[in-house]
Amino acid sequence: MAAKRAAGKPNKVYRIAVIGGDGTGPEVVREGLKVLRAVATTFNFQYETTDFDCNGERYLARGGDPGKPSVPVIDEAEVAALKTFDAIYLGAVGDPRIAPGILEKGLLLRLRFELDQYINLRPVKLYPNVPCPLVGKGPADVDFVVVRENTEGIYTGMGGVQYQGTPQEVSTQINCTTRFGAERAIRYAFEFCRRRAGPKRMVTLVHKTNVLTFAGGTWFRAFQEVGEEYPDIKKDYNHVDACCMWLVKNPEYYDVIVTDNIFGDIVTDLAAIIQGGLGVAAGGNLNPAGVSMYEPMGGSAPKYTGKNVINPLAAIGAIAMLLRETGTHKGDKRLADAGNRVEQAIMATTPKMKSMAAGQMGFSTTEVGDLVAEAVAKGT
Ligand code: IPM
Ligand code: MN
Repeated sequence: MAAKRAAGKPNKVYRIAVIGGDGTGPEVVREGLKVLRAVATTFNFQYETTDFDCNGERYLARGGDPGKPSVPVIDEAEVAALKTFDAIYLGAVGDPRIAPGILEKGLLLRLRFELDQYINLRPVKLYPNVPCPLVGKGPADVDFVVVRENTEGIYTGMGGVQYQGTPQEVSTQINCTTRFGAERAIRYAFEFCRRRAGPKRMVTLVHKTNVLTFAGGTWFRAFQEVGEEYPDIKKDYNHVDACCMWLVKNPEYYDVIVTDNIFGDIVTDLAAIIQGGLGVAAGGNLNPAGVSMYEPMGGSAPKYTGKNVINPLAAIGAIAMLLRETGTHKGDKRLADAGNRVEQAIMATTPKMKSMAAGQMGFSTTEVGDLVAEAVAKGT
């Protein structure tokens, strides 16, 4: 009995929902799934995938108005179905024919809210041989994680506009912050820091408590109180503007950053560029007790679509995260180990590439996928 349990979950078939999405999304997802196939063979776990065709193309085909939301980007029944999966793998959202916001709100934000994916997890790691725009910084200096609150702040859509189009126009965009939301993000960050067990063992709260005294106060009090439960972890605080400076000057200072939704949105793009850009940056929208969704950070890159030139490493990195986080949250060590193997294979591949930029990699999209899949099989 004990031996069987120690062997993991031999009969479990992991069910993964795949939303290729727009533009280059389906191309990079294909490479991620290629690597998943390779690592499942190597680590001997079972999974099945189900495709969901929620994208701009379908929105238009259903008669959706390109100028304003008119038909659902994702159906009620599809949202209900997604809630039954073990994980979701998303390619990219965004179609130049459709006004900004329609697909993003209709798909990505809707899923974050409805599936209560309250953590946006963004590991920021500079892989070997990936050029870093920061002078004198290398892989030893860029290795931290941002835990972004993912369901509150100014993303809730509270507020409104009055007298639109007149000189008297007034708009409000409410920063909805709850103690509950701040606390669960902070707790996740401390737990993550403990699991990560890096040499720094520090969580930095990032906010703007000197101006946003109400919302900042809620975050700060939650941080201090929850922090007391983690005496083994150093507690640190930065204002968000100062944090942007330090991320450029001293990225090696950071271990785990926890922050609110919009600050997290902004600092993670800064972080993406110091880890080598959108070709390599991956993230997860997590509900640790529910269904999480993993995605490359890059957009749909319309001008590269269908050319087999886009960098699939971010999407492959999203598979590494999917395996590691699903394995961790569901208590399946084999899956978590498989995720680590995928990350090692990415690190074995970056030194072979000429660049991380689309069209300049020295390889096509599918060839980079092949290189990582081979490295997974070889165990390098
Ligand atoms: C991200 C993106 C989204 C966000 C957009 C596409 C709505 O920028 O995941 O960081 O702002 O959260
Ligand atoms: Mn963003």
